[in-house]
Amino acid sequence: MRIIGLMSGTSADGVDVALCEISGQPGDMQASILAGDTYAYSSDMRQRILDACDRQKSRVDEIAILNTDIAEVFATSIAQFADANGFALDTVDLIASHGQTLWHNVLPDGSVNASFQIGESAVIAERTGITTINNMRARDIAAGGQGAPLTGYVDWLLLRHPSHWRAIQNIGGMGNVTFLPPLSDTQSQPIAFDTGPGNALLDVSVMHFTDGQQTYDKDGLLAKQGRLDEEWLHDLLQHPYYQRDYPKTTGREMFGTEAALELIEEAQARGLDQYAIISTLTALTATNIADAYERFAPARIDEVILGGGGHHNPFMRSLIEQYVAPATVLSHEDIGISSDFKEALVFAVLAYETWYGRPGTLPALTGAKQAAILGQITPGDNYDALLRQRFTAS
Ligand SMILES: Nc1ncnc2c1ncn2[C@@H]1O[C@H](COP(=O)(O)OP(=O)(O)O)[C@@H](O)[C@H]1O
Ligand SMILES: [Mg+2]
Repeated sequence: MRIIGLMSGTSADGVDVALCEISGQPGDMQASILAGDTYAYSSDMRQRILDACDRQKSRVDEIAILNTDIAEVFATSIAQFADANGFALDTVDLIASHGQTLWHNVLPDGSVNASFQIGESAVIAERTGITTINNMRARDIAAGGQGAPLTGYVDWLLLRHPSHWRAIQNIGGMGNVTFLPPLSDTQSQPIAFDTGPGNALLDVSVMHFTDGQQTYDKDGLLAKQGRLDEEWLHDLLQHPYYQRDYPKTTGREMFGTEAALELIEEAQARGLDQYAIISTLTALTATNIADAYERFAPARIDEVILGGGGHHNPFMRSLIEQYVAPATVLSHEDIGISSDFKEALVFAVLAYETWYGRPGTLPALTGAKQAAILGQITPGDNYDALLRQRFTAS
């Protein structure tokens, strides 16, 4: 099947669009990215998203309108993407849309009772004519799971090493890891959870110190000029999230704009300048990752495979290499997958599994009582043809 994966993560930087080719079934699945592009949100759209996530600023009418407007952005991005890459939309079977998370509600006991992604699938299906599957997290939550990280199951399907334990580490707005047992180990289950803040605290502080001129620390250039403050770093790592046992997930509710602005004040009161703050927050991500491996990895991790925007930050990457040694640190490219479009591929694979009536999770990964078939299907113009194909194939 040809599936377009749409990923719009907690960084609210834009939407990643990937055309994927997927065939086979669990145990023998082939999935590749044929093309990928990122469509950055306009600064106005980004601000509307960040405001909608903010309990002080959000308004129900604005959220309702944003749900439609952001879906228009998704649909326009898909049309541009098809043009730029020279294919017709009627050659695509499905669209898999993650949506933009506004709120991921973690209760004090660590369980999740709601996760809210916007981006109206009716608009996407109407504009593109393609059957669209979205809202992937809700069913896992209804089954008692965290609804995240959903990457873990696809990592398990596609990325196990023949003989080594791997950590598949994504660094988006938040960080999330999958510990993958080798194919030779038929007993162990994978483990997946959010490691904590990835780039989110960092991005807020860069926006704050550059008066919005920069939205992130490109290539870690600001962090490189700072002095890493070990004492503050040590205090930051006392946050109860890091000690909490898995399954666990987090988001901007805990590590977003509000938290970042408070931390900046705290750091300034300690006498840190902007470079030291950015440097230490970069180190916080590297350290919370290494710390999570030490606490929770069930076996020695031989290889760490980095992905997500954070892997473009050389300062962050070199700290991670230092902290997880002697494990080898690789990029998804080293195992044949684009780091930037990996998550879009993940959602394409989940939609594929949904289309064939198979679950997209393992209870061990999200803490759900049972594995569930994920998502909601909105028929496009190709729906009838798809159904015929589906039932003559099986
Ligand atoms: N060249 C770079 N240097 C440093 N950081 C980068 C670079 N490119 C991307 N990033 C970081 O990655 C983030 C986007 O990562 P992404 O994987 O898209 O996250 P999400 O899935 O949350 O949208 C940016 O906000 C930025 O912090
Ligand atoms: Mg992104």
